Amino acid sequence: MRHMDWVKAVLFAGVAGVGLTIAGCGEGGEGPIVAPPPPPAEYADKHMPAGWWNDEKIIEEGREIFIGKKNIDVNCASCHGKDGKPVKAGARDFRVTERMKLYSDSVWFWRISEGVPNTKMKPWKSKLPEEDRWKVMAYERTFGLKGQEWDPTKNAWVPVGSAAPAAAGAAPAAPAEGGKDGAAAPAAPAGGAPAGGAPKATAGGGKK
Ligand code: HEC
Repeated sequence: MRHMDWVKAVLFAGVAGVGLTIAGCGEGGEGPIVAPPPPPAEYADKHMPAGWWNDEKIIEEGREIFIGKKNIDVNCASCHGKDGKPVKAGARDFRVTERMKLYSDSVWFWRISEGVPNTKMKPWKSKLPEEDRWKVMAYERTFGLKGQEWDPTKNAWVPVGSAAPAAAGAAPAAPAEGGKDGAAAPAAPAGGAPAGGAPKATAGGGKK
């Protein structure tokens, strides 16, 4: 779209001084490396189902979705490239680790589900059930983040297997966080009950 070209031009100009970031991505005209926006609330707590990051069968199923083998109407590779090298200008290059590591699994899933407005990246949720969206992501991340998984507690990509074990899709993550603040305060004053205690000290030996 025209509009996008314009936006990109502005972004480009803005970052021209930084220069560095642009150097790596001459291929698809992806523009500067910036963090994606945070996911909307309904996606914020969505995470890769437990065990899937490292499940070769899941990743292979993701590959088949990606290349349009499973459903010819869903062919991510027709833009993002079979080997991850984009074949349509502007399509996200998943090989660029520096960019993709800024994407949480929730953001990634949100974008696959809802697309990116005013770009060629369409929403896929009507064509891909939730599980398939996770599978295709598990595959896509192998281009730039192979062997890594998103750790929602650290908010970072970490080697598979080293994430905190909270990430199961349906995890009710809330309680753990709250504990931090609540616990400390009330218990402390215990030691401080000095006044009344006088009798203890009686040297003069009460009992015989
Ligand atoms: C018609 C071309 C096209 C197809 C097909 C396509 N994409 Fe994209 N995709 C794009 C473009 C262009 C962008 C960059 C959008 C932007 O500028 O933020 C993109 C971006 C993305 C992003 C990153 C979004 C972001 O915020 O940066 C993800 C993730 C993604 N695509 C996944 C997929 C998956 C999974 C499929 C297949 C189910 C798919 N895409 C199919 C064109 C396509």
